[in-house]
Amino acid sequence: MVAVDPIRLADYKPWPFALPEIALDVDLRSDQVVVTSDLSLEPLSTNVPLILRGVELTLDGLAVDGEPLDPSTWIQEGDRLTVTGLPDRPFVLTTRCSIDPFNNTSLEGLYTSGGMLTTQCEAEGFRRITFHPDRPDVLSRWRVRIEADRHRYPVLLSNGNAVQSLELGSDRHAVLWEDPFPKPSYLFALVAGDLREIRDSFTTTSGRTVALRLHVEAGDEPFTAHAMESLKRSMQWDECTYNLEYDLDEYNIVAVRHFNMGAMENKSLNIFNSKLVLADAETATDGELERIESVIAHEYFHNWSGNRITCRDWFQLSLKEGLTVFRDQNFTADLHSAAVKRIDDVAMLRNTQFREDAGPTAHPVKPSEYQAIDNFYTTTIYEKGAELIRMLHTLLGSKRFMRGMATYVSRFDGTAATTEDFVQAIADGACANGETLGFDLEQFKRWYHQAGTPQLTVERSWEARSGRLTLHLRQQTPPTPEQPVKQPLVLPIAMALIGSTGRQGEERLLVFDQEEQVIEIGAVPGPQPPALSILRRFSAPVTLQMDMTLEETLQLLAADDDPFSRWEAGQRLSRQVLLARAAAEPDATVESALIHALRQSLVDMDVQQGSELAVLLSLPGMAELEACQEPVDPLALFDAMQSWRSVLGCELKSELHDLLEQCRSQWSQPWPKGQGARSLTGVAWSWLLAAGDAQTPAEALNAVSGPSMTLARAALRALQRHAGPEREEALRVFYDRWKDKPVILDAWFGLEASTPRSDGLKRVKDLLEHPRFDPLAPNALRAVLGGFMANVPLFHAIDGSGYTFIAEQIVDVDQRNPVTASRMVKVFSRWRSYALERQLVMQEAIQLLDVPALSSNTREVVVMLKA
Ligand code: PHE
Ligand code: ZN
Repeated sequence: MVAVDPIRLADYKPWPFALPEIALDVDLRSDQVVVTSDLSLEPLSTNVPLILRGVELTLDGLAVDGEPLDPSTWIQEGDRLTVTGLPDRPFVLTTRCSIDPFNNTSLEGLYTSGGMLTTQCEAEGFRRITFHPDRPDVLSRWRVRIEADRHRYPVLLSNGNAVQSLELGSDRHAVLWEDPFPKPSYLFALVAGDLREIRDSFTTTSGRTVALRLHVEAGDEPFTAHAMESLKRSMQWDECTYNLEYDLDEYNIVAVRHFNMGAMENKSLNIFNSKLVLADAETATDGELERIESVIAHEYFHNWSGNRITCRDWFQLSLKEGLTVFRDQNFTADLHSAAVKRIDDVAMLRNTQFREDAGPTAHPVKPSEYQAIDNFYTTTIYEKGAELIRMLHTLLGSKRFMRGMATYVSRFDGTAATTEDFVQAIADGACANGETLGFDLEQFKRWYHQAGTPQLTVERSWEARSGRLTLHLRQQTPPTPEQPVKQPLVLPIAMALIGSTGRQGEERLLVFDQEEQVIEIGAVPGPQPPALSILRRFSAPVTLQMDMTLEETLQLLAADDDPFSRWEAGQRLSRQVLLARAAAEPDATVESALIHALRQSLVDMDVQQGSELAVLLSLPGMAELEACQEPVDPLALFDAMQSWRSVLGCELKSELHDLLEQCRSQWSQPWPKGQGARSLTGVAWSWLLAAGDAQTPAEALNAVSGPSMTLARAALRALQRHAGPEREEALRVFYDRWKDKPVILDAWFGLEASTPRSDGLKRVKDLLEHPRFDPLAPNALRAVLGGFMANVPLFHAIDGSGYTFIAEQIVDVDQRNPVTASRMVKVFSRWRSYALERQLVMQEAIQLLDVPALSSNTREVVVMLKA
């Protein structure tokens, strides 16, 4: 398997033309689409050939200033159209081409979803619509005319403002759209279909009224209120927090069933995976409602962080994504519980990004080369990117950071910028009044270029007589592909000392930027050293190595005033318990101490703090545990979790029943109220079921037909691990109730595929043949195949049957949808961390991916896995 030549950051050159204006005419016919494009081009240097990109386009005509071009002056090779001998003055290049969206299963460019036509252009999809440079640093003003059959496509949408509607003869009509804000091609969007509109409005602080329009398929109208309210909250928040207003008269969101990702921030025409729009308490869980709110916010926030200021090239992807994730995280923190949000985000970072950083696909937040940019929409670009911005925020403090943001916006509005531009603007704004930065900016930028999760080691010495406490800090980032040697980074380390009654003294921020450093904390007299609360709020995305006694951990768990650190103390103990169990050496001391502490929390806290309590009780994720095990034994970890749940259920039985009693009275509170009680219910059910409690199966089964989707799904999850009539009945009831709602039925597909049954593999194969399974919908594929990959006993069966099955499925999906297939391949990325026997069967499965027809996207990931 050979790799193709990568694209390199070092090779960046500006495009040699300006393209101030584009006029597109998109003629939707019954069997094809004809796209006529007028590009107004201005050469920026003399005699350079014009190179445009086009993929799967049939070129029907090419003209300059209306004159057809002589065939000797242009050539089409692969995905390039090269035109020479062009005038040295501004001119208009007209191309006319036809495309076939009706057979486009890649979900890039123009494609069909249900009866509608829709687009996805990020990152390089526009070249599947017409010839264009298709790079983010070429910004133009767009005018788009869409013509279509009036009955089949009554709604015709594009970016900007609808300036004209025309009724044409023979059942055809047209709409003309104009977007006054220059934008790159990846933000272009077009939708045509028989869609129902839900309308609302928002008045900005400066008094402008914005029409908010949500477009969904007929029948889905009742499930749009949550999305609409979320949009208004997002607009409000960005005005209050960043002083940023929306800039057009309308804002459109379209819900689409067939979509590769979550959602897309096309200027004024967001396109959303329908699962991130359609929801209410009966049809979505609390977690899904919060996620929808945050994705609506994310796409809305992109209007400034991404659209008004865009990326110079795709190496800068985190410029918009890291920043926008940081913004949506803070939005959720402000609207709900900041502590719970931070804990959720850290858990997710550890289980996805740290895992990526530790494997063959590790890459920096700012990569220096890539083959397929689609493969770089990763948790490193998004979530680690957001952590870098969070560190700047921590280092500078909120006020100075916000001044930096204002500088960034005013300096780069209307342009395509780089991450260096961003960091410099933040620093300049923060120091505008002559302040000093307080850290080395150049060194901070290493975070963008260096892959891998730094390890922070803390050793302590405490002199009993004087009470002098000294910290010895060390940092080291392990080697990653192509980066064997690492340099020290700027680590903001928030710390405090915790006594038995809480924090002693102020929190301090240490800026640790050496490989090694000794820091005197000062004299802390007392009979014993105080507990050290370090990396509070997870102030830097690192792994921490620090010896901590059981007593100290328990003290933090009981008395730390930082909720994140309290949670972290509990997680530390849970990890110890689970790893010891997985090694068949249960640690009775830690287990009883943890049970005692959890009992205490159950008694001390009440359901009003339900969400905080629920995260405290949550067990670490598989990926996180795998990172601590060598070699990784997934089956042992899976069993350890289940046996530990059963111990917790037995030991805490009466407390859990008391808790459930309190929770029940809050079950029907509408989100966001009642969510704490509902998540506690899920924990209690799962532990009690594991312990064989007699009452729980009936109550759980009952919830599946009840009014709360959160409880229904919690019940299904808890029942899932327990073979028995209740489990089968619960799945059947859920199916019968929701079989006509594809968005919800995906949850059923996911549950079926992840249920550990002895005949599970056969049943998963049957799911792929199920009449309601749609093999063209990534959501459905992810539900079944993703569900199976999370089915630990089946996916990791030591005979390799699970690995083989997934490899074969990936090859199959790849033929239709390379973007979705290449994301799935990453499930094999940690094959080297397993014991030899498992490595061998996994390698055999990876070998099955080596087929000549494999897409370049998927091939790139496979090559990385094998390297
Ligand atoms: N830019 C989108 C977002 O994060 C994600 C996306 C990327 C969607 C590529 C589709 C294709 O908001
Ligand atoms: Zn984004």
